[in-house]
Amino acid sequence: MAKDFEGKVAFVTGAASGIGEAVAKQLAARGAKVVVADLKLEAGQKVVDAIVAAGGTAAAVAVDVGQPEQVEQAVKFAVDTYGALHLAVNNAGIGGVAKPTADYTVEEWRKVVQIDLDSVFYSLKSEIPALLKSGGGAVVNMASILGTNGFASAPAYVSSKHGVVGLTKATAIDYARQGIRLNAVGPGFIETPLLNGNTGSSNFDALKALHPMGRLGTSDEVAALTLFLLSDAASFITGSYHLVDGGYAAQ
Ligand SMILES: NC(=O)c1ccc[n+]([C@@H]2O[C@H](COP(=O)([O-])OP(=O)(O)OC[C@H]3O[C@@H](n4cnc5c(N)ncnc54)[C@H](O)[C@@H]3O)[C@@H](O)[C@H]2O)c1
Repeated sequence: MAKDFEGKVAFVTGAASGIGEAVAKQLAARGAKVVVADLKLEAGQKVVDAIVAAGGTAAAVAVDVGQPEQVEQAVKFAVDTYGALHLAVNNAGIGGVAKPTADYTVEEWRKVVQIDLDSVFYSLKSEIPALLKSGGGAVVNMASILGTNGFASAPAYVSSKHGVVGLTKATAIDYARQGIRLNAVGPGFIETPLLNGNTGSSNFDALKALHPMGRLGTSDEVAALTLFLLSDAASFITGSYHLVDGGYAAQ
């Protein structure tokens, strides 16, 4: 495998599971030093152990991305551990309860917005100064196809993911001349623990049918697009929103 991320330090949130785990593992396999940041430290350490066993370099840090001070400390941990920051993937997220807008409590709304949208702002606020110090870098914010499409009984999630797309565009414009590229990725439905937790089932036939390809995506497929956007091959790509959705949004 090409070691095209050699010498780069990457900070990945929600990296103990699913898409974030795949991103962390692919980055490490291609030479990056990876900080696995997650609410679940033990699960994050398992990802680190697997990366190290495969010959890569990684360290785990506990963070609640909904808490700005914790995010600041986690980014500082990355810089202190590996000396710089070049890449960030703001990926941690939750689905929230499934019910229509008027049935959402204020607390349920705020929790999803805090973890799925506010967290990306907190992360960028801490990451950007570190990226500027390194002379620039690249960021991917994990949105969703629900960053542009609606979906039944998911008002807070859909709103948050639309917000992530907007925040990505606004921030990309602010830093385009300072060497920082930011893009958003919009996965279709991907078979991960998040999906299992949200649907309470592992029978995804109805969800599969929503995708013209007739199947769900994999975390590795989302990671492949994410790494492309982080790589120098994407040097003229910033402020945009890229789908990996089996054709979902084409309908
Ligand atoms: N699975 C899908 O179908 C799908 C589709 C589109 C977008 N996404 C997005 O991809 C991202 C990753 O989702 P996934 O499917 O891999 O989920 P997942 O549940 O497998 O992994 C999410 C990780 O985030 C961590 N996390 C949750 N809350 C956190 C917090 N407050 N602070 C730090 N870490 C926290 C969890 O511990 C977990 O390790 C999310 O932003 C999600 O919205 C997922």
